[in-house]
Amino acid sequence: MTSKQLSEALRVGTVVVPAAGMGTRFLPATKTVPKELLPVVDTPGIELIAEEAAAVGADRLAIITAPNKQEVMRHFEAFPDLVETLEARGKESQSAKVKRAHSLLNPIAVEQDKPLGLGHAVGLAESVLAEDEEFFGVMLPDDIVLPMTAMTAMTAMTAMTAMTAMTAMEQMVAVRDKLGGSVLLAVEVPREQTFNYGVFDIQDTDDESVKKVVGMVEKPDPADAPSNLVATGRYVLDRKIFDALRRITPGKGGELQLTDAIELLIQEGEPVHVVVHQGTRHDLGNPGGYIPANVDFGLKSDVYGPALYTQLKKIIADYEAEKGLS
Ligand code: UTP
Repeated sequence: MTSKQLSEALRVGTVVVPAAGMGTRFLPATKTVPKELLPVVDTPGIELIAEEAAAVGADRLAIITAPNKQEVMRHFEAFPDLVETLEARGKESQSAKVKRAHSLLNPIAVEQDKPLGLGHAVGLAESVLAEDEEFFGVMLPDDIVLPMTAMTAMTAMTAMTAMTAMTAMEQMVAVRDKLGGSVLLAVEVPREQTFNYGVFDIQDTDDESVKKVVGMVEKPDPADAPSNLVATGRYVLDRKIFDALRRITPGKGGELQLTDAIELLIQEGEPVHVVVHQGTRHDLGNPGGYIPANVDFGLKSDVYGPALYTQLKKIIADYEAEKGLS
């Protein structure tokens, strides 16, 4: 395969971004600001997701929005007056930052009137897919999965060849290409934390980083968890998921759960696999994950990194002294 054919085979046409949740873990900020617009350093989570989707070749970003979260779509508009003002003042780099989101891909708003669950949100995206689109991506803007682009993947894996330096989504599409069906992303967590997540019941395949999923358990007691591999916010889903979503009934919290539809596909013999993620993952959905994400991105920033490093060392030294940890 040439690299062009390879990249075409690993392309996703549509990426669905469910962004209609209530963001209750981020109150009071989310009274007026959608959590998808909270910045990681200076860039909203939704723009980081759009960048990752564009990197896997997507040209359509179906953003599931709520009636009171219109600002999420506004972020992808062109802002010509702001661009003109910045350029007139010689602020080229700020102008490039304003233009970035608008230039990445085509965002399409799909409104979810009520937050009836992640499964309901994904089901609404069916009308956005082209008729011949047999699979699509889902990326939860709460989850940042690093590396986000093949370029950074290559930097992160200098010892490997360019062919193996793929982002998580690219690896997942490659697995779908080989094994069919749907492919999810798994991360390892300590067993005692499994009660927070959807946990995979898995079987080995001949590839160490790919497991066949034979079941999924939502938020189990750690003693009952079938593994310590848990679902994170990236999915490559076969179109059959829409039919499964129509057949499930509300589950936990009265919501339509995407996990239940995936479980239904597994029971019906459809192939479902996970790629076990080796890189970093940040959970932007709650302050406890959002703060380390900002520290990580902040430290990697040329502008803020060096000063932040010095400040963090002092903050940690003060904290250790206060708590008697040093
Ligand atoms: P979460 O349950 O983590 O998000 O859903 P939330 O509901 O916004 O968060 P909390 O628990 O109230 O703090 C995971 C993803 O699914 C989307 C959310 O926006 C988030 O990106 N979602 C969830 C929807 O789009 N619609 C829903 O009905 C539920």
